[in-house]
Amino acid sequence: MNFVINGGKKLSGEIAVSGAKNGAFPLIAAALLIGQDTTLHNIPDIRDIHNTIELLQALGADINYRNHTLTMRSSQLSSDELDREISKRMRASILFTAPLLARRGKVSFPHPGGCVIGERPIDLFLAGYQAMGASTQTTDSVHHMGIPHRPKSIHFTFPAISTTATYCLMMLATLADGTTKLSNAACEPEVTMLADFLNTAGAKISGAGTPWITIEGIEKYPPNTLEYTNIPDRVETGSFLFMAMATKSTITVSHTEPDHQEAVLDVLRRMGANCVIGKDSITVIPPEHIKPIDIKTHEYPGFATDLQSPFIVALTQADGSGLVQETIFEGRMFWLEDLQRMGAQVMILDTNRARIEGPAELKGRAVKSPDLRAGMAYIIAGLTAEGTTTIHDVEIIDRGYERIEERLQLLGAHIKRVTP
Ligand code: EPU
Repeated sequence: MNFVINGGKKLSGEIAVSGAKNGAFPLIAAALLIGQDTTLHNIPDIRDIHNTIELLQALGADINYRNHTLTMRSSQLSSDELDREISKRMRASILFTAPLLARRGKVSFPHPGGCVIGERPIDLFLAGYQAMGASTQTTDSVHHMGIPHRPKSIHFTFPAISTTATYCLMMLATLADGTTKLSNAACEPEVTMLADFLNTAGAKISGAGTPWITIEGIEKYPPNTLEYTNIPDRVETGSFLFMAMATKSTITVSHTEPDHQEAVLDVLRRMGANCVIGKDSITVIPPEHIKPIDIKTHEYPGFATDLQSPFIVALTQADGSGLVQETIFEGRMFWLEDLQRMGAQVMILDTNRARIEGPAELKGRAVKSPDLRAGMAYIIAGLTAEGTTTIHDVEIIDRGYERIEERLQLLGAHIKRVTP
């Protein structure tokens, strides 16, 4: 499937944000950990959620998913092996190792796949699980882990900040023998949400949202029927805001959480935008002349790596030059070569730094996205560029953005999905 975009036109109106992709996975993993009937709302209808459902059904979970609500019954599981083929499609598959270790005492999984944006090791998960008493063996590229007793409580300092490793150790520690202290933990709102959901179910977690999380282990989750609503997608929100800047269009992004956008709002304002904040909406009114600024990606509450590419497209329209430095992943700037072919003045300084000179007159081209977020950036570039842009193999974009072309059409975007 391809997207064909006729760009160079202003957009206007309101676009509603979906539930957080990277919030849905830990909620579903937590539901598996708790093992009781659970209803989750605001789960985005994207390819990776369907992959997740398939992965969990293969473990014996009974899942129903309709109208963004997922109900799951997983009291009886029949397997502790994560399907190899599905796990290799998505990094989030690693999240299901913690519930399986806790509930079945063992788990087998391949090295998880996902977007090709760098090495993406799993050493932090393995180190944490081992400290909690798990043993590991790797044969034929499949990791086999076993934990003979209740997980041990630990005092663990993450050598690098990792959102998914924070989710996993926090989940396993809720059932550990004693009190676990995690330091240098990720502070993303999705971590805070996961802790809140687990606490609703009976866990005893404090400090989530700060680098220090304390988890008092419980023996088991009390019987309960659980219901929880996922937070809005931070990355989708930021992408739409930078789309407004790049196309110099006034857009209202609704169904979002403005409190999660402080770094983005700061960047937009420094670029000269007027941002009007509502209870659950942000309206961005771009300036006539965008001011160029430098950014460095950073863990939350800093500027998200997932927004590096949409920001760069906005920067191509600034009056002057800005420097962008990627600090989280080492392979996240390759997409810039196609942006250069679209007419962007990009100087790639090294694998992690690029200088962008604006304003550039972008021209439509045929491109193919190396990853989900670069795919969104190409959509924004295509909407900004004069002429026709064709984005090939948009399945990678469907992994994280729900019916994106239909939602953008409501803003007046000329974008359609075509089968080549
Ligand atoms: N890291 C290690 N060892 C580990 C785990 C991570 O060295 O065992 C390093 C990574 O190499 C990276 C850094 O720590 O340099 C951050 O990794 P993190 O674990 O936070 O990232 P992730 O779990 O691979 C999640 C999101 C990404 C998002 C990053 C950073 C999910 C499923 N993925 O990835 O989202 O970019 O956190 O915020 O939640 C996306 O949605 O497109 C995406 C890539």
